[in-house]
Amino acid sequence: MTKFKTIIEPFKIKAVEPIKFTTEEEREEILRKAGYNVFNIPAEDVIIDLLTDSGTNAMSSKQWAGIMDGDESYAGSRSFFRFEKVVKRITGFKHVIPVHQGRAAEKILFSIVAGPGKFIPNNTHFDTTRANIEFVGGTAVDLPIPEGVQPDVWHPFKGNMDVERLENFIKEKGPENIPLVMLTVTNNSNGGQPVSMKNIREVKEVCSKYGIPLFLDACRFAENAYFIKKREKGYENKSILEVVQEMFSYADGCTMSAKKDAFANIGGFLALNDDELAIKARNVLIVTEGFPTYGGLAGRDLEAIAQGLEEVIDENYLVYRIRSVEYLAEKLIERGIPVLIPPGGHAVYLDARRFAPHIPPEQFPGQSIVVELYRVGGIRGVEIGSVMFGRKDKETGKFIPHTMELVRLAIPRRVYTQSHIDYVVEVITEVYKNRDKLKGYRIVWEAPLLRHFTARFEPIE
Ligand code: F0G
Repeated sequence: MTKFKTIIEPFKIKAVEPIKFTTEEEREEILRKAGYNVFNIPAEDVIIDLLTDSGTNAMSSKQWAGIMDGDESYAGSRSFFRFEKVVKRITGFKHVIPVHQGRAAEKILFSIVAGPGKFIPNNTHFDTTRANIEFVGGTAVDLPIPEGVQPDVWHPFKGNMDVERLENFIKEKGPENIPLVMLTVTNNSNGGQPVSMKNIREVKEVCSKYGIPLFLDACRFAENAYFIKKREKGYENKSILEVVQEMFSYADGCTMSAKKDAFANIGGFLALNDDELAIKARNVLIVTEGFPTYGGLAGRDLEAIAQGLEEVIDENYLVYRIRSVEYLAEKLIERGIPVLIPPGGHAVYLDARRFAPHIPPEQFPGQSIVVELYRVGGIRGVEIGSVMFGRKDKETGKFIPHTMELVRLAIPRRVYTQSHIDYVVEVITEVYKNRDKLKGYRIVWEAPLLRHFTARFEPIE
């Protein structure tokens, strides 16, 4: 950008939203009422909200202008055609099906292709992806590379899939039982880690060999493309658009949550090449989401998404984005706080096993840290560990922990400034200093699916 080393936000702030401040005593009471589950806390009572980067982004003035300009026609809306054109330019897929958010695309796709006896391999399934596969009776299988589940091991593309394991898995289960293979870019559940172009290509080769389609879970495709440009040989002089187009060129379709790398507050799409599958998908769409030219969205949302997709592939934005996440990780590492390395594209992940080694996985060390960050500084993060993914063995009832115990601090796009992040560093440092006092938690109530959203906890005294 310039010869100066300070990377500045590539935008000015036009509208602001006040933050309400609470005291530690107030937050203690709020936590108790929320059953020590930060999903149950009113957002107004959160000072810095790092629960998710999903739907929490700041839209640009051009996106807001698009909101005013949206065409709300039921069929054939002008906003749909703009949206479709942008999605096609980026992904190259033939059919573009708008939906109200990413999981709606997953629901449609898996209700058509998955079911009992069907297996869906992924580098690592996000929780809703896994849930949608399991909901129709299918089996979701995670096949990350070994480095992908070791928080303290550096690897440029920790989101990669283990290609050898994939091929063995296909041979073992039979290609006829694997309706599609998925790659999540970036790999959210293992640290927002990127997948290399080489890996996408190799996964595609295996898929082609057995006649299995490849789908991308593309929520954070632009962040993934930026990592490819920075870390993979041969891509340094390509534009982000070129990298993105090559990534999608190896896939037969994608699911997308526009709440991430499209800067929208709601929306998503399913895009694919197969005509027959598209007909089936549109049939489900009409029953559950809406007419094919609006899906579950208003015309104005389609405008915001189209504009957002154009903005996210701007390299100046991505330089700032990835650096601002790295900045937080760097400060924590300097203070000796265990974080997953390298930092991901959309979030910094604390390694709860090393942060609170005295709390065993069955007492949820990540949950304990999440609660403490809120109590001490009003910061809301999210546990990605055994609360979210731990399970009981169906036969023995024995607790099976998740591969990692993480606390994700997701950074909403274009929302917080450097001083907000410096405050976050200070709070985490304080919690880390007093880490010996962190307590384990037990679940006192849980739902059968996606329990982390609504579970209630109590501290183990
Ligand atoms: N796939 C990935 C990789 C995701 O991270 C998400 C959402 C989805 C699919 C589902 O999309 O929310 O629009 O239905 N992730 C959010 C998060 C919720 O906090 O990471 P959605």
